[in-house]
Amino acid sequence: MASYRDRFPVFERVTYMNSCSQGALADSVRSAMESYMDGMDEFGSLWEAWAGKQEQVRGLLAQVFGTTPAEVAVTASASAAMNAIASSMFLEDGPRTVVTTSLEFPTAGQIWHAQAARGVSVEHVPAGPDHRLSIAAIADAIDDDTALVAVTHVCYRNGSMTDIKAIVDLAHSRGVPVLVDAYQSGGAVPIDFAELGADFLVGGCLKYMLGMPGVGFALVNSRSTSQLIPTATGWFAARDIFAMDIFGYDPAVDARRFEAGTPVVPSLYAVAAGLELLLDVGVANAWAATSVLHDELRAGITSLGGMVVTPAAAGEHGPMIGVAATDDGGLVRAMADDNVVVSHRDGNVRISPHFYNNSADVEAVLASMRRHRHLLA
Ligand SMILES: Cc1ncc(COP(=O)(O)O)c(C=O)c1O
Repeated sequence: MASYRDRFPVFERVTYMNSCSQGALADSVRSAMESYMDGMDEFGSLWEAWAGKQEQVRGLLAQVFGTTPAEVAVTASASAAMNAIASSMFLEDGPRTVVTTSLEFPTAGQIWHAQAARGVSVEHVPAGPDHRLSIAAIADAIDDDTALVAVTHVCYRNGSMTDIKAIVDLAHSRGVPVLVDAYQSGGAVPIDFAELGADFLVGGCLKYMLGMPGVGFALVNSRSTSQLIPTATGWFAARDIFAMDIFGYDPAVDARRFEAGTPVVPSLYAVAAGLELLLDVGVANAWAATSVLHDELRAGITSLGGMVVTPAAAGEHGPMIGVAATDDGGLVRAMADDNVVVSHRDGNVRISPHFYNNSADVEAVLASMRRHRHLLA
């Protein structure tokens, strides 16, 4: 992936291995945002171009995830996508428990708990001490009152990855829909939405998808969810946006019904450019390149006496690996002083390479960790 590295100026300054927080900025993403500003200067308003950008992003997301544009809602965040979905559920008598896990991102726990006002209760299936989620434990948690299984693909705290296909097959065999939070895997790990068979998959574009804050998405399985109509909505979700109708609610029949108001247009410009670059690289190629760096990182960290908390087996980890630290924040700050950018959560330093990283970056990360090894757990 050496040919792409020059496209990311940040590497002239620092060793950046923090794509689980924000992807590195590509030259074309910067230019795309600048072209938005240039257009404002030149024409004042760019309504036609804006609507086109939304559709371009929809089409690019469909390509990344092996689905059709009609199954893609472009939202302002993953939270907005989840809220729109939640708003379409629990409106009638029926099951009222959401089965989720202990590995979720805060927003994914909070949104389901917020549905308590609609009589919803939430059950968190705990992952084991090795951060693996047992499919049998999910099976035990599903009962006649289960309305939804909502599960993160890759945990933002420890990088463990759950076998979503197994959960989809299990939940569907009991007639329960599945929502996947793929924020920590989308763009890094190949995902085929059609093959996965999940009912919903949500995420955002600022990490491994090379974009900026302001664009999230919901992939919506048209076969299994057509009866769900969101109550959190807005004019961009209308069947005909330009009907400008204040006297009724006529939502789009496709995934667009999960959208709301004016999109975050500058971010759409960035995200379109980021997704084009990602598709040029190819997610499978990106994942293959990242996997080589994972092996180097794991070997190096182990030889330093450090402990990688992320499961190692194929299919059990995403792009980020977590390393236990006695003072995770302190270690991240010490590494920043060495010009190495990583992040931390929950006692772990998070090292998250992408296709633009290389073995020299791994060396720099390991050299810095060696210098501060007293902070490793
Ligand atoms: C796994 C996961 N889910 C959800 C979110 C929240 O996304 P948003 O801020 O777009 O709602 C994040 C953000 O980092 C995340 O990592």
